[in-house]
Amino acid sequence: MASKTPVVDVHTHMYPPEYIQILESRDAIPIVRSFPGTADPRIVLLSTEMAPLKEAEAAAARGEAPSISALPGRPLTSHYASVAQKIHFMDTHGIDVSVLSLANPWLDFVDKDQAGALAASVNAGFSAMCKAHPGRLFFFAALPVTAPSDVLLQTIADVAKLPYCRGVILGTGGLGQGLDDLAMEPVLSALANAGLIIFLHPHYGLPGEVWGPRGGTTGEYGHVLPLALGFPMETTIAVTRLFLAGVFDRLPKLRLLLAHSGGTLPFLAGRIDSCVRHDAHLWKAAQSRRSIWDVLHEQVYLDAVVYSDVGLQAAIAASGGAKTGGLDRLMFGTDHPFFPPLDSDEQGEWESVSMNADAVSKALGDGSAEAAAVMGGNATRILRLYEESTDKA
Ligand code: URA
Ligand code: ZN
Repeated sequence: MASKTPVVDVHTHMYPPEYIQILESRDAIPIVRSFPGTADPRIVLLSTEMAPLKEAEAAAARGEAPSISALPGRPLTSHYASVAQKIHFMDTHGIDVSVLSLANPWLDFVDKDQAGALAASVNAGFSAMCKAHPGRLFFFAALPVTAPSDVLLQTIADVAKLPYCRGVILGTGGLGQGLDDLAMEPVLSALANAGLIIFLHPHYGLPGEVWGPRGGTTGEYGHVLPLALGFPMETTIAVTRLFLAGVFDRLPKLRLLLAHSGGTLPFLAGRIDSCVRHDAHLWKAAQSRRSIWDVLHEQVYLDAVVYSDVGLQAAIAASGGAKTGGLDRLMFGTDHPFFPPLDSDEQGEWESVSMNADAVSKALGDGSAEAAAVMGGNATRILRLYEESTDKA
């Protein structure tokens, strides 16, 4: 009897306990703070939440319990740091294998002298979790992007030898000047040569002013604008800059897995292509290199964290070469522990997961071979999840 294709979650985060302790000791975002009258501490990640954070801290200092709706950030439940909780979540949702990654903002804010040691310890922590759950957990390593370049390059060499490591997670900031910064190229080159795929994930969104003045509106819009629109644009901008800088052509072995189905890249690739063709300044250089479509077909993978078959169809169409129709480059994800259900038990099923799984079934047919590929077959092949995890050191 043919064995069932495993279900693999390639977009699933954790904050190890030591990382949370660092956030608890901080005075600025990212930060973890407890407030009177709330069961869980709050984790505040978005830099635009400074004002509500200060207001809630001032209220707490006056001995007042702030109302839940006025609290910044989100509740830091056991889902963020507990591996037992991750396994329970996987079992509840029929997920056979998870490829864990540190959640944003990773080590982007860590002091340069401490970043290397913290990266080593976070990555050792992820390795231990994977070792304790063989066959069920792999991970994308965290990089000390603020560390001196020799430390950063050594970390890449080190994580490439870790038996359960299948790539790295990276934000769009690079070393502080974006991924297309020339100083970033040796880092990207080292990752490409080590065969480490980069899981590119947003954190910074767009500047708050982008959302416009708010005269006359009542009520708050919560995290909707930064998460639904800011995050995807951030990813789109970062990849477009890499493309315009010619990095994909210079580093043909570079492989990127883009969070949230590439942000808006699948929808905007044609427009990017056209703008390049109609830009006198760029077109001459562009003629000697591959188009954004070639890059999407050859060097980019997309997760399927897009919550609708409409977006998923665009992702499939954009990432597909003529041969495969794109089905071989898409990989299911959940974004756990973000987006828990608000009206049902967090230990039960999460709507944010079923929305993504249903999108795959609706786009490709419930139980079809194509759906199975997106739900796990592709990740198993691309990330070599079947490979024996022997220590390569
Ligand atoms: N998903 C993430 O991975 N990070 C956030 O901050 C919010 C949603
Ligand atoms: Zn995520």
